[in-house]
Amino acid sequence: MFRKLAAEFGTPLYIYDAAIIRERFADLETFDVVRYAQKACSNLAILDLLRHRGAMIDAVGADEIRRALTAGYTAEKREDGVYPIVYTADIFDRDALDLCIEKNIHVNCGSIDMIDQLGARCAPGREITLRINPGFGHGHSRKTNTGGDLSKHGIWYDQLHQAMERALRYDMRIVGLHMHIGSGTDLEHLSQVAEAMVESARQVGTTLETISCGGGLPIPYRDNEERIDLLQYRALWRDAQAVLAREFRHPVRLEIEPGRYLVAESGSLVTEIRAVKTQGGNLFYLVDAGFNNLARPIMYGAYHPITILVADSPDQGAEPTAAVDAVVGGPLCESGDIFTQEEEGFVVRRRLPRAQVGDLLVIGKTGAYGSVMASNYNSKPLAAEILLDGGEVRPIRRRQTFEQMIANEIF
Ligand code: LLP
Repeated sequence: MFRKLAAEFGTPLYIYDAAIIRERFADLETFDVVRYAQKACSNLAILDLLRHRGAMIDAVGADEIRRALTAGYTAEKREDGVYPIVYTADIFDRDALDLCIEKNIHVNCGSIDMIDQLGARCAPGREITLRINPGFGHGHSRKTNTGGDLSKHGIWYDQLHQAMERALRYDMRIVGLHMHIGSGTDLEHLSQVAEAMVESARQVGTTLETISCGGGLPIPYRDNEERIDLLQYRALWRDAQAVLAREFRHPVRLEIEPGRYLVAESGSLVTEIRAVKTQGGNLFYLVDAGFNNLARPIMYGAYHPITILVADSPDQGAEPTAAVDAVVGGPLCESGDIFTQEEEGFVVRRRLPRAQVGDLLVIGKTGAYGSVMASNYNSKPLAAEILLDGGEVRPIRRRQTFEQMIANEIF
């Protein structure tokens, strides 16, 4: 199938499997609200798919709000008290502030300046959520840790009173509290958040309708990694909800805000091997995708599974089962353009089938933070994207053309 699609649409090519997204969404049905962090993969077709399953949406910039609106999400609070779109950020750029005012988008403020800027322009009685930095955080890499004093995110937990006073000054109502300590963390760290949430929620008091435990759920990138125990995680939060409901004398809704968990495993980046070379003792497979297409390895030393699809032709792909240790790199004029590397840029070899030019090399579990973090470095066009859905092949993004890439340049 991948070979057929590569022949038809060219490489590099992102392919997503809709069934996997639906399955992962179903895993989370015990949470009151699943709010998709679209930063993980914001293609409109993916937003549309998740909206039809019942997911709400998170946006971190004006254009993510526009994407949500384009995909059919609305701004108004629903009858059940849920805001379909929430803008979560630590700043408003001017465009985002204008749009949140104009469209009445619910705002999760990650700084006291955001409260001031929104307060100065909105009508009295406006409802807001506060994002709290609980003073600790954890992620799969230092770069994805969003809590603690080295993180720019959220309102520092002991400034919550200040934030509340400020909200009061503008007659704003704090209806939500949110904590997101990092991405790709683990159950142990995620568990600590529930306690911190209860403490902060008590300070805000009975106006609270919703608490959000953020995203950050890990997924098993490696074969030997286990799936997170969602039942245990849910139970922990159910206890926190029960404590608050008892004290507030009304129920408190729990939101979860995953990005990676919903889409990472659905995506594959299909590339073609264009050169095979030996440098000293190292064998290199050089493919037509680089960190312009997938930045996670160079940014975090992230591991992605790699498989090889040997080309069809009989004179190619002899001994497909023979294994070798190979380094996999891309086409960019930069030595860090290597998919098999660890944090700090250590190049490592991966046990892979023997392969040759023309074989396809598939980088797996790239549905989250893959295509969305792509760039035009070395003037490489953004890759095409395909969604496989119930036997149907749906192109969901055309490959960028040269003309589109240079369209805004003036000379
Ligand atoms: N909510 C907030 C406020 C966030 O900042 C994030 C991620 C999420 C939810 C979703 O986190 P997730 O469930 O996907 O872990 N580029 C990095 C990840 C950066 C995540 C940024 N914020 C990576 O490739 O691992």
